[in-house]
Amino acid sequence: MTLRDVLLGWYRRHGRDLPWRRTRDPYRVWVSEVMLQQTTVATVLPRYGRLLARFPTIRALAGARRRDVLAAWSGLGYYRRAASLHQAAKEIVRRHGGVFPADPRVKLPGVGDYTRAAVLSIAYGVPVAAVDVNVGRVLSRLKGLEGGAGRPAAVAALAQRMLPARRPGDWTQALMDLGAMVCLPSGPRCPLCPLVRRCRASRQGLLSAAAGSGRARKPRSVRLDCSLCVRDGKVLLERRGAGLLAGHWGLPEGLPRSRTAKVLATVRHRITHHDVTLTLRSGQAPGRVLGASLRWVARSELSRQLVSSLWRKALAAVYSRP
Ligand code: ADE
Repeated sequence: MTLRDVLLGWYRRHGRDLPWRRTRDPYRVWVSEVMLQQTTVATVLPRYGRLLARFPTIRALAGARRRDVLAAWSGLGYYRRAASLHQAAKEIVRRHGGVFPADPRVKLPGVGDYTRAAVLSIAYGVPVAAVDVNVGRVLSRLKGLEGGAGRPAAVAALAQRMLPARRPGDWTQALMDLGAMVCLPSGPRCPLCPLVRRCRASRQGLLSAAAGSGRARKPRSVRLDCSLCVRDGKVLLERRGAGLLAGHWGLPEGLPRSRTAKVLATVRHRITHHDVTLTLRSGQAPGRVLGASLRWVARSELSRQLVSSLWRKALAAVYSRP
């Protein structure tokens, strides 16, 4: 499956059902995008339908009195957005036949690059990338673009390069939802992410608890003592708790083992601010009842379950032995 199919499939199943996603009317999409500038979805939701009920078309908005438009904006703050929306509506009626122009070159009051791209891609299917903070963060992590937040031009170029020609608006809104619900700024929920196996940052461990401040830090030495338990061609994995690679599946730590357990491999691996030394010993599988955080996984499935290269390195050291 292509990245696009995976993401759009996830969006269909898990994307947020928002009123401005039930329409392709450029006016309604535009109003939502202006309201969502600097304002949360939760704040916009109750006010969106109310404003559209009051001004159901661009012409209705253009013909309204300024103070009525500002009154309908009540509770959203940043009233300049309302004034610009009103101005732009008048201009659209005067110069563009009352229809939000599909031409990316047209400039309108209060409609910056982001808003224009969002409206054009969502309402008209024009392949222009709209990059808000969520989209920027998701794509930067996915492609391992370090310091993405401080490199808007690089992020914009990346977003445009990755944008599919078909349904660009759904693609962008899927990235917004992934950023809002899964790929959170701190504490991303990688185990829930449909793109985790394709994600550079996750694979390289860049999303560990300590990552994110951007300051250069002295790496911390971390020792992991893990067990390799094999039964019927399957390997025992554990879902990790808090700390390094939290939420990811890995080789289990802290299982009982005999004092004479053989060291199978020792590998070192750098995970952003951590210098990890992993010692892998042959382990004893616990009894038949496994908790939810332990699972037997077929050897052929390991590369799909073990996201960090730390584990691959360790297993390669064991299995490539002559
Ligand atoms: N924030 C800005 N535009 C949005 C959209 N179309 N859906 C959800 N959140 C958004």
